[in-house]
Amino acid sequence: MKRFEGRVALVTGGGSGIGRAACLAFAREGARVVIDDIRVEGGEETLRLIKEAGGEAVFVKADVSKAAEVEAMVQKAIDAYGRLDCACNNAGIGEPLKRVHKTSEDNWDRVMATNLKGVYLCMKAEIPHMLKQGKGAIVNTASLAGLHGLVGQTAYVASKHGVVGLTKSAAIEYATTGVRINCICPGVIATPLITHQLTDKPHMEKVYVGMEPIGRLGKPEEIAAAMLWLCSDEASFCVGSAFSVDGGEVAG
Ligand SMILES: NC(=O)c1ccc[n+]([C@@H]2O[C@H](COP(=O)([O-])OP(=O)(O)OC[C@H]3O[C@@H](n4cnc5c(N)ncnc54)[C@H](O)[C@@H]3O)[C@@H](O)[C@H]2O)c1
Repeated sequence: MKRFEGRVALVTGGGSGIGRAACLAFAREGARVVIDDIRVEGGEETLRLIKEAGGEAVFVKADVSKAAEVEAMVQKAIDAYGRLDCACNNAGIGEPLKRVHKTSEDNWDRVMATNLKGVYLCMKAEIPHMLKQGKGAIVNTASLAGLHGLVGQTAYVASKHGVVGLTKSAAIEYATTGVRINCICPGVIATPLITHQLTDKPHMEKVYVGMEPIGRLGKPEEIAAAMLWLCSDEASFCVGSAFSVDGGEVAG
């Protein structure tokens, strides 16, 4: 029997990078997958990859920063598969590298809306279904930027520190209900979020690799593997952790 057979997993930002790797891993392990993304093209490509490999999934287009869209997304998961066992609230965006006094209020609002409010709205919509089942696992995607500061990325860093705090508080609120909530803190991972920057600023690759004592960037699949473990019954005593998967960055 596969590890997630009979279970339903929702992944936001499933159309690219870490989210896509998580969707593919859940499907390989037998879960029925609800792929969310704001970009239809990416979400449909993940759906195609899952179906091609013989898995089961649906794609739902929803912007995680909009409450009505998030509620409709979770309802579509319930309508399609009747339950929700695992939720990876993973959708997130970066920001241009600028010092605080050069940044705009619009940038702050945009980053917070997706990275922090989006995680809050998703948990708010997901938790009632998990409480009804008496069981569920949520993994929010924070970042190493949720554990330490980074020059030129204040809104991103603040949003990810927020995800860590939100995760810890929600985790202890529901700790006795069977709903486990954790977050994951990836180091620098080779996804479009990072590789887009490298096209304009190739020198940044050295900087990013230099942040990782292991001497290379992480792969999306290495984060997905940890997300699945945190969602699995093997992680039954993990509650409210900010789990670093970072090639040694936070230890360095
Ligand atoms: N790549 C890294 O180095 C790294 C490191 C730490 C944390 N993270 C976090 O991991 C998560 C995934 O990032 P990634 O690296 O895979 O990036 P990515 O850009 O490859 O994927 C992010 C996906 O989220 C989607 N998305 C963006 N805004 C959305 C919204 N409002 N609603 C729904 N979907 C939306 C995008 O369309 C995209 O498909 C993010 O939360 C990011 O902050 C990434």
